Amino acid sequence: METIQNYIKTNEKRFIDELIELLKIPSVSADSKYAKDVVRAAEYVKAELVKAGADKVEICTTPGHPIVYGEKIIDPKLPTIIVYGHYDVQPADPMNLWDSPPFEPVIKNGKIYARGACDDKGQVYMHIKAFELMMKTNTLPCNVRFMIEGEEEVGSSHLGPWVKANKDRLKGDVILISDTSIIANDIPSIESGLRGLCYLEVEVTGPNRDLHSGVYGGAVPNPIQVLCKMIDSLKDENNHITIPGFYDEVQELTKEQREELNKTPFDLNEYKKDLDIDDVMGEKGYTTLERTGIRPTLELNGIWGGYIGEGAKTVLPGKAFAKISMRLVPNQGSDKITKLFEDHFKKIAPKGVKVIVKPHHGGEPVVTPTDSIAFKAASKAMETTFGKKPIPTRGGGSIPIVALFEKELGLKSVLMGFGLDSDLIHSPNENHGLFNFFKGIETIPHFYKNFTEMSK
Ligand code: BES
Ligand code: MN
Ligand code: MN
Repeated sequence: METIQNYIKTNEKRFIDELIELLKIPSVSADSKYAKDVVRAAEYVKAELVKAGADKVEICTTPGHPIVYGEKIIDPKLPTIIVYGHYDVQPADPMNLWDSPPFEPVIKNGKIYARGACDDKGQVYMHIKAFELMMKTNTLPCNVRFMIEGEEEVGSSHLGPWVKANKDRLKGDVILISDTSIIANDIPSIESGLRGLCYLEVEVTGPNRDLHSGVYGGAVPNPIQVLCKMIDSLKDENNHITIPGFYDEVQELTKEQREELNKTPFDLNEYKKDLDIDDVMGEKGYTTLERTGIRPTLELNGIWGGYIGEGAKTVLPGKAFAKISMRLVPNQGSDKITKLFEDHFKKIAPKGVKVIVKPHHGGEPVVTPTDSIAFKAASKAMETTFGKKPIPTRGGGSIPIVALFEKELGLKSVLMGFGLDSDLIHSPNENHGLFNFFKGIETIPHFYKNFTEMSK
């Protein structure tokens, strides 16, 4: 389609400039200090959808951050694509590790550096520009609805109720999401599954106050040490998770499915080199691709307590804390796993300490079919623009709302993402290749066209 490339070429600079404006807004959903900026980002997305030609564009308020909705219904008889994405971003900390400020985007070596450049403002913007392109070139082949939220990075807790209350507005045929990665720019891929998530915080209390570690130490439970032991016992020597019942619902893949998955291009030496580690570590009996794609995991995300300031302080602290997340696979359920964790963690606490488990948020795992019209439409679109058929992969990340779309709207999703693992999402120096940005804008109209034709 000559028109696509021409339109992109003609408007290339403007697209980048507009994306930069969006990236300048620090829409960090986790930190209430940025609540106004989150709204500003929603307003920017709204204005862009209006400019691109969407109708009924609206900022839908929720008890949390707002959702931006917009649509273009050209003919109710035609298929409807629902585009989902998020305009909120992760906190930028630690600031000192950024080479340039996270909300002052710069372009270097063909990449745009900023928090959200890839996850997910850059990829949301591809959709807005692809839509603009189809509107301005009169090539929009079907209906489209946009649902761009501001709470993905904090668990999408208000999007679920909004979806349930807005089923009329969300009538459609497929959910299209660009919020995942491809293997490499010359190895396109489509993720066919996302893991679920249980995120929780634990608090261990020993004595009712901080104590002198010489006067009391050795005689009183030290909550940091107790917490470390408890956490250590959550995995055995084979790195299997020891929580009773944890694996009960885990769907085991067949030998053939595992073989297929392990054919995914992956270089373990490169992987180790990139991370500066001598060896990988994980559940015995599984490859790295399996450990990050089809197996559930348990990771510590933070641990604190006692004195961590400059110099030394001989203290036996009263409390210790940790943040723990578990990634889930089909058919594990986040409520059930949270409960199993909570019961087990309380049970293994030795006498002398009190334990509180505070669940944060969760999300269910999903597998998206690879034999659907939508997957085939995405595959064909990528094959056209990348010149190679994309490989189905299983990603390790989570997008909590995807399972709910299936449950509430009866709609499957397609994870047609354009990021790279090297984009450093959630890390300092997050970036996104301009190649990927424009490739996304180029590929999306092909998806619309293929999906419409294949739906006939
Ligand atoms: N876009 C990511 C998820 C992702 C990244 C999936 C790369 C596949 C490949 C999303 O924004 C994200 O970061 N999700 C969080 C969950 C959320 C509840 C904080 C995650 O996976 O940790
Ligand atoms: Mn994301
Ligand atoms: Mn993210």
